[in-house]
Amino acid sequence: MKAVQITGFGKADVLRINDVDRPAPGAGEVLVSVEASSVNGHDVIVRAGELKMVSGRRFPIGVGLDFAGTVAAAGADVAGHRVGDRVWGMVHPRERHTTGGAAEYVVVPADRIAPAPEGISPVEAASLTVAGSTALLALRDSAHLTSGERVLVRGAAGGVGTAAVQLAHAMGGHVTALARDRHAELLTGLGADEVLDYRATTSDRIGPFDVIVDTVGSELNCYRSRLAKGGRMVTVGLSASALAAIAASSVYGARRIRAFSANPDTAVLRDLAGHVTSGALRPVVDSVYPLTGIAAAHRAFERGGVVGKHVVAVAA
Ligand SMILES: NC(=O)c1ccc[n+]([C@@H]2O[C@H](COP(=O)([O-])OP(=O)(O)OC[C@H]3O[C@@H](n4cnc5c(N)ncnc54)[C@H](OP(=O)(O)O)[C@@H]3O)[C@@H](O)[C@H]2O)c1
Repeated sequence: MKAVQITGFGKADVLRINDVDRPAPGAGEVLVSVEASSVNGHDVIVRAGELKMVSGRRFPIGVGLDFAGTVAAAGADVAGHRVGDRVWGMVHPRERHTTGGAAEYVVVPADRIAPAPEGISPVEAASLTVAGSTALLALRDSAHLTSGERVLVRGAAGGVGTAAVQLAHAMGGHVTALARDRHAELLTGLGADEVLDYRATTSDRIGPFDVIVDTVGSELNCYRSRLAKGGRMVTVGLSASALAAIAASSVYGARRIRAFSANPDTAVLRDLAGHVTSGALRPVVDSVYPLTGIAAAHRAFERGGVVGKHVVAVAA
């Protein structure tokens, strides 16, 4: 099969499309024929060599955290998944893989996939797998958003942000979106009550908020100070400086900066699919690249200015 791999750390030009043996599912695993995979920050920092504690230094290293496709084979002891089922899922973000979602096939434990939502294409499904589950976990499990609360989404036009705006709106939040002003119409259409241009807004001039979802990872303390009494803040942008701010904020107890690494299981992916089929969450796809365009997709992600997700259509 064709699989995107790196054989050295560096810029996007280290990405290779190699011919490798198709993996076989072991007990409890499924083989998925991949149709699409999105580009995430995790892919880029692994490729750049900034996450060696997870990726290791042994090559090749597989690329692509998430995928949408169909079940091609199931190993022993797998119940509930049949060949041909449309699924979406994610490889384990904290394990080393020689191939990942950006490949014609991927093998994962069966508890890492779920039925893909009806009514959207594999490219659209892939755009939501990591980004949507991260937004869901941030709002529901980390910030415990309840109806009527004031929510700030920082980085609202990005992959996690566009999903967070929609889910926060669906959960009854009053949503303030921080993004470039050219995305105001899109974000209002996704459910934002107010859109502010982040280049013209300073943290001290907005709020207070009951919930802040940050996808940027900078100025965390300034934004944390905009929490209302009883407010919760969660960041998913886990840079080194963000980790330091998160650790230091533990003195604030419930009003600390919360963080997590999304690792959705079948139950989370099922819940996410429910939000899609209910109409609460729709995919926002910026651009679609063929597998041969993986380097261009990484470069586009790194350039910024994305609206939703860049997706690689593996089967194209
Ligand atoms: N912890 C986890 O489990 C987890 C899961 C998924 C993602 N992540 C991380 O979360 C971050 C966001 O992921 P993503 O896929 O949503 O990335 P993305 O699509 O690139 O979105 C980031 C957004 O932030 C905006 N932005 C940049 N600087 C800003 C600022 N100062 N104020 C407000 N907005 C700003 C960007 O806008 P412009 O480009 O237009 O400036 C962009 O819309 C990444 O670091 C990713 O690695 C973590």
